[in-house]
Amino acid sequence: MAKTFDLVVKGGTLVNHSGIGKADIGVQDGKIARIGSIDNADAGETIDVTGLHVLPGVIDSQVHFREPGAEHKETLATGSRAAVLGGVTAVFEMPNTDPLTTNAEALADKVARGRSGMFCDFAFYVGATRENITELPDLERLEGAAGIKVFIGSSTGNLLVDDEESLSRILAVISRRAAFHSEDEARLIAREGIRRHGDPTSHTEWRDPQAALIATEQLLRLAHEHGKRVHLLHISTGEEMKLLAAHKDVASVELTPQHLTLTSDEAYASLGNKAQMNPPLRDASHQEILWWGLHQGIADVLGSDHAPHTLEEKAEPYPASHSGMPGVQTLVPIMLDHVNAGRLTLERFIDLTSHGPQRIFGIACKGRVACGYDADFTIVDLKTRRTIEDEWIASVCGWTPFAGRTVTGWPRGTIIRGRRVMWEDEIIGQSGGEPVRFLEALSA
Ligand code: DOR
Repeated sequence: MAKTFDLVVKGGTLVNHSGIGKADIGVQDGKIARIGSIDNADAGETIDVTGLHVLPGVIDSQVHFREPGAEHKETLATGSRAAVLGGVTAVFEMPNTDPLTTNAEALADKVARGRSGMFCDFAFYVGATRENITELPDLERLEGAAGIKVFIGSSTGNLLVDDEESLSRILAVISRRAAFHSEDEARLIAREGIRRHGDPTSHTEWRDPQAALIATEQLLRLAHEHGKRVHLLHISTGEEMKLLAAHKDVASVELTPQHLTLTSDEAYASLGNKAQMNPPLRDASHQEILWWGLHQGIADVLGSDHAPHTLEEKAEPYPASHSGMPGVQTLVPIMLDHVNAGRLTLERFIDLTSHGPQRIFGIACKGRVACGYDADFTIVDLKTRRTIEDEWIASVCGWTPFAGRTVTGWPRGTIIRGRRVMWEDEIIGQSGGEPVRFLEALSA
């Protein structure tokens, strides 16, 4: 008798651990049940994806969705709608909300909100403070926890742990890989005078490569001392990338599409304050080394650092203008355009957006198109040529730094645990997000 599936994804070109080739995928109970040629199957639903590529679900391991506390910028519902419209199946969200996600109650509150209103799957980082260090070993194991996030340099919000003693105490107590915003606070404070009123180009001068390098050197030294794994978020400088190559035992590395795509000179000229983010955009000489790090395998994952602020907040005169730009919806099209331009292969893309997060964060049953894994797929049309417009952006902030850019390669569908969540720019059905599970916290 023919095998029964709830869903068959049929006729597409699958990109997974085996390479790139034609394959159908049978899904049962939200899990991948068979990969290969599936004919005459009894399937509840069949999706014909002839001419399209089926990728493992894209995981964006750094977003700021602002709920609770700043819902005028974004909510968990709107941010996750933006995610699935952009082909993203799961996000790791950051703790600089209000209240901060620094204790079990705040985390449980976000998980409950995620369950009731998010369209993609999710995990939430727990922020480290000087006060919650002894609780971190319990917090990092709770349901829905992506791990611990530490701001070594201050950015949006007031999370900051900038003294070596506290950083050392954090690394001593935690066991999972923790994520770091690595800029040296003392240097940022000492050089505040470099900022010129109304001139966002001075943002890149102020938060200079040295500020990033000093903090990253310190963090790597402490990681070795404690034998702990550290995840360096949004690496922006060539110096750090070269240094990180010598520390792959302890360090994993994130790159953002904006640092790979926009250079400081051009971006400030065309976007003004919209280009302001932390760590800042850099010049082409740094960007070249980031791409080198991507090709050499030093970079492990891509994160969008989706950091929505309203146009009014961005338009305040620098330095009152807010740092950060949205990105969860544009990660896939921007990077597929780089694939089409020959800057990276499709295999490397899925390594950065699915296999990489699965490997370094120990995600249970996500990040691979393999039997037994969640049926999360990002279905893309590599040939679609389309211009990114502000009107397409579902984020409350309603703008993108990539507006007006014509790209080749577009997400056509988002399938999460066997459920079609987005198809051809339309969100289908209700929210249905679930917490991502991690190998180091399976009992959570
Ligand atoms: O530019 C940034 N904005 N960098 C960060 O680290 C935080 C983010 C935000 O939350 O706005």
